[in-house]
Amino acid sequence: MHATERVVERLERQQGLDAAAERIAGVLSRALRSEGLRDVLSGRPIGHPLHPAAVMVPIGTLMSATLLDATGDPLLRPAARRLVGMGLLSAAPAALAGWSDWLDTEGAERRVGLVHAAANVVGLASYAVSWWQRRSGGSGLVAGLVGATALGVGGWLGGHLAYAAGVGVDTTAFQRGPADWTDVIAADEVTTGLRQVDVDGTPVLLTRVAGRIVAIGDRCTHRGGPLAEGERVGNCVTCPWHGSRFDLVTGEVLRGPATRPAAVYEVREVGGRVQLRRSEVRALRANPVAGVDIHPDREPQLVQR
Ligand code: FES
Repeated sequence: MHATERVVERLERQQGLDAAAERIAGVLSRALRSEGLRDVLSGRPIGHPLHPAAVMVPIGTLMSATLLDATGDPLLRPAARRLVGMGLLSAAPAALAGWSDWLDTEGAERRVGLVHAAANVVGLASYAVSWWQRRSGGSGLVAGLVGATALGVGGWLGGHLAYAAGVGVDTTAFQRGPADWTDVIAADEVTTGLRQVDVDGTPVLLTRVAGRIVAIGDRCTHRGGPLAEGERVGNCVTCPWHGSRFDLVTGEVLRGPATRPAAVYEVREVGGRVQLRRSEVRALRANPVAGVDIHPDREPQLVQR
């Protein structure tokens, strides 16, 4: 196993972090209790998580300042100081979005997320010291280098959270659904309640809207919450895990933290039976796990395609 993998695995098992995480989560939950604020911080209005996009400005400016420092050219010092100042100011909204995402994690992801945040706090604090030293006539070089190193560690852990643990990723991205009409259930078994059916190993949510049967993916695109166990309000369903809200007809996300819409299935009734198929463009994406059926309730199985 790669050395970095061993480090992060050790972090993931550090249950000693849980008490601190619990306390911080309690404070943050109260500070970020506004649903509207959490919705914006999640990135739902832009259709993707906000945090990875928002961190580009502080990381870009702070690292650029360190690169200017590295030239040793005294004429570039004023520019470097301004870049550090801009980086520190732009870090606040980026950090807020990150903390908001972190509140919806648990277990190993929450522990790694906490250390990721701590590294970034150390990085920003070091750059703040660096800025102050520059303003007072010093070079601020060493503090800047410490800041860059800490931000590098924080960025590496952030990469692990996104690319290895899948935090912020659409948890249904690789679900396809049948391209051909597939019989699933008797039509009279579908009411205005929320009904989950298994379609070729993919959970699908069925219900009626204005008398018509509609079908969307049953797993929340945020962290995979079972929408059929959520609450129906009007023509929307609210995820039971973190409260994302989806339109039952269009699959659109109406409230975060989910940022990606639910899969939408075509529905038809034939001889009193409900048939489904999924023909939307995103169901045609290349599937990196093609040949393996992924279902949350059972072991992956090789299938013939
Ligand atoms: S799993 Fe988080 S809102 Fe659905």
